[in-house]
Amino acid sequence: MSNTSLGTALVTGASSGIGATYADRLAKRGYDLVLVARDAARLQSLADRLTSETGVTVNILPADLTQRADVRAVEKRLREDESITLLVNNAGIGPKGALLDDDLDYLETMIELNVVAANRLAVAAAQALSERGRGAIVNVASVVAYIPERFHGTYSATKAFVLNLTQAIHSEVADKGVKVQAVLPGLTRTEIFERAGRSVDDLPPAMVMDVSDMVDAALAGLDQGELITIPSLPDNADLDAANAARYALGPNLSHNKPAARYGVAAA
Ligand SMILES: NC(=O)c1ccc[n+]([C@@H]2O[C@H](COP(=O)([O-])OP(=O)(O)OC[C@H]3O[C@@H](n4cnc5c(N)ncnc54)[C@H](OP(=O)(O)O)[C@@H]3O)[C@@H](O)[C@H]2O)c1
Repeated sequence: MSNTSLGTALVTGASSGIGATYADRLAKRGYDLVLVARDAARLQSLADRLTSETGVTVNILPADLTQRADVRAVEKRLREDESITLLVNNAGIGPKGALLDDDLDYLETMIELNVVAANRLAVAAAQALSERGRGAIVNVASVVAYIPERFHGTYSATKAFVLNLTQAIHSEVADKGVKVQAVLPGLTRTEIFERAGRSVDDLPPAMVMDVSDMVDAALAGLDQGELITIPSLPDNADLDAANAARYALGPNLSHNKPAARYGVAAA
């Protein structure tokens, strides 16, 4: 149980990068924490530091989220720990190279983590938090959800999944006291590149954001009630225009006859 009025935030992928930075910022805001990742030693050392710096309660829940039993244990925590008010659904891996050279087993692991586990945890949290009538879900997607032609196909598809899921969950829980946010980072300085056998230093520096700036902006977006936060986007009207173009398709996406240009049936 949590001693703070903010409750407990469960952060996945908390052992490094974006997740570890969320853990730091949320502890400083006064959230108790449950930290999830595979590397128990790293989680424990972060937990010890945050407890001594902030006095909040930090538990670790080591889990390999590509393993169904481990995902179920995290789901169970989300459902049964009534102090949980926030899920930061962040754990993920990136691509190792070009899609046409890729190892299909690695891509399947990516889907297990970035899609299957992310989906189970987001939906479990949506169910539990809407029962409790308060809380928030932050799903970490990526800007590549919007530019699949310019990035690795499977990775960008996993992130488009997370974006779509977030938008759909929002429409179901908005009137139940639950906030939902998709965070779409651009390139962010973390271990994700080194883990995939690449180097962040090979990327154009003008495109790489510091992880602390990225997370601080994402949390500001959450505070401002944004459903989709793109930390580097200068003018949010561009995002609104993209969404407006999508909504404009709406009335014509499902008719009982094909469009006239296909010559199949009279329009
Ligand atoms: N960095 C970027 O440029 C960027 C841009 C857009 C989106 N993102 C997204 O941001 C999220 C966080 O990435 P990051 O950049 O912070 O990378 P990172 O520093 O490599 O962190 C990834 C985190 O996920 C955990 N993780 C990896 N495999 C796991 C597994 N099987 N089970 C449980 N946890 C696992 C890692 O911990 P363990 O190894 O201890 O398990 C680590 O805590 C990802 O979803 C990524 O797709 C990153």
